[in-house]
Amino acid sequence: MRKGLTSYGDPEFSLFLRKAFIKAMGFSDEALSRPIIGIADTSSDYNACHGNVAALVAAAKRGVLMGGGLPMAFPTISIHESFAHPTSMFLRNLMAMDTEEMIRAQPMDAVVLIGGCDKTIPAQLMAAASVDVPAIVLPVGPMLVGHYKGEVLGACTDCRRFWGMHRAGNLDVAEMDRLTERLAPTTGTCMVMGTASTMACIAEALGMALPGSASIPATHADRIRCAEATGRAAAEMAQRETGVRSALDVLTPAAFNNALTVLQAIGGSTNALVHLSAIAGRRGIAVDLDAFDQLGRDVPVLVDLKPAGQHYMEDFHHAGGMPRLMREIARFLDLSAPTVSGGTLADYIAGAEDVPGQDVIRSLAKPLSACGSMAVLRGNLAPRGAVIKHSAATPALQQHEGRALVFEDIEDLTARIDDPGLDVRADDVLVLRNAGPKGAPGMPEAGYLPIPKKLARDGVKDMVRISDARMSGTAFGTIVLHITPESAVGGPLACVRTGDRIRLDVAGRRIDLLISDNELAARMRDIPAPTYPAPERGYAALFHREVLQADEGCDFEFLRPGLRSIGTTR
Ligand code: FES
Repeated sequence: MRKGLTSYGDPEFSLFLRKAFIKAMGFSDEALSRPIIGIADTSSDYNACHGNVAALVAAAKRGVLMGGGLPMAFPTISIHESFAHPTSMFLRNLMAMDTEEMIRAQPMDAVVLIGGCDKTIPAQLMAAASVDVPAIVLPVGPMLVGHYKGEVLGACTDCRRFWGMHRAGNLDVAEMDRLTERLAPTTGTCMVMGTASTMACIAEALGMALPGSASIPATHADRIRCAEATGRAAAEMAQRETGVRSALDVLTPAAFNNALTVLQAIGGSTNALVHLSAIAGRRGIAVDLDAFDQLGRDVPVLVDLKPAGQHYMEDFHHAGGMPRLMREIARFLDLSAPTVSGGTLADYIAGAEDVPGQDVIRSLAKPLSACGSMAVLRGNLAPRGAVIKHSAATPALQQHEGRALVFEDIEDLTARIDDPGLDVRADDVLVLRNAGPKGAPGMPEAGYLPIPKKLARDGVKDMVRISDARMSGTAFGTIVLHITPESAVGGPLACVRTGDRIRLDVAGRRIDLLISDNELAARMRDIPAPTYPAPERGYAALFHREVLQADEGCDFEFLRPGLRSIGTTR
């Protein structure tokens, strides 16, 4: 109760006043003498993915009491992917700041961070990395699968697949309406290996969440038990006198290398690379994109989940979840990395369950893909890097040269992509610019450019698409993302003209505009100044002024300490 007293010029009066108000809720002095465990409540009527948070808060409170603490739930911003304008990424840093400051402002000896929908766990980990308070992540858990005409469905890989069929004229509006009731049948996060599932797995790999907590379905009794255990672990962490005392002890270079390794092995979302760069940046650590690319050459994809594979998060859970996966890739991990449970990552995998006959978590001998899920590209179009999830791309398109068809921004894309008169061929390279962190703003998930309707109707399912945007982790295709620097700040993407030739060479890790260096330099000199107006006030103005590029996690400059670089530790 004495922590962070409100400033009235008399600390004893501040404490007296605080006690008087907290006692209005019926607390006794004995209860108030316990370690206080904050619980970040991210329930919101706008966030269906977090529909079970009330039950998780109740169970976490029970666990805190069992561990000798006093639970205090408090609200923070909650962000749902589909209810955030202009993008959830635009609001991630606001949620990180809100969470950090509420942890700092209110008296608490530890905190449970309940998150799940795409940007929430990243925001909470950014906050945890910025305050010296013991913190533990409790994911809300994935949805159960849906069913439609004998097919098993998952949001939102199948949302995109059905939308593609609708655009091609193969599914009518009535069927699409019916599908809105089938694709997301329960509360919880998207049940494929999208960004939410990826970040829950990453939280576990970082040692910031309890073993197994990433994959328990949102609606299972085990999820409630996990909440109880997490509350208890937070209370224990608050009373621990040695060892791991806060997230600062857990979020080490070894932990980030473990997380990046897991990201390759699970076929995770490209968004996670941006988020990990932001979280590591809060600890003064720079993620080395080339080292991450090298990891991808060594670490195979072992988790057979959509969009790269076949199964869903509940299947991953029943196959043993993250402990079982991490046991399979143990030789690539630093198992001495400490965790919030007080032990090391070795303890997480020691409890891994063997499930006879399961085929969701592959062995190293029989991977889903012999190399990792993502590659980092360089080249004259991406001096500071770009990323492709090649595990979800068409193999034949990964070495491709084609004619550029340029869309100036998302509005231009929307206006022209389905124009019957559009001069487009299946072997063209679709280019979208002004869709990066500053230019859009908020780096929308627009990198999954739709296949032009007239080609979709002819059966074209994939094309090479490149942009400075992001893409949903649930999407698939031969799509180059996060081109850095973005075009709106003068990156070379701004120089591309319709009709230019572009070469994608995933094996050689290159994305190039096929013009001479002299021609590129001349075009760079002529890049027109951005035409979008800078916001004048509020969070939008702060975002515009401070947001960093994708390779720096799209964090705000002023929230990061000085950086040191990490490569792989192996
Ligand atoms: Fe919330 Fe997919 S929309 S996790």
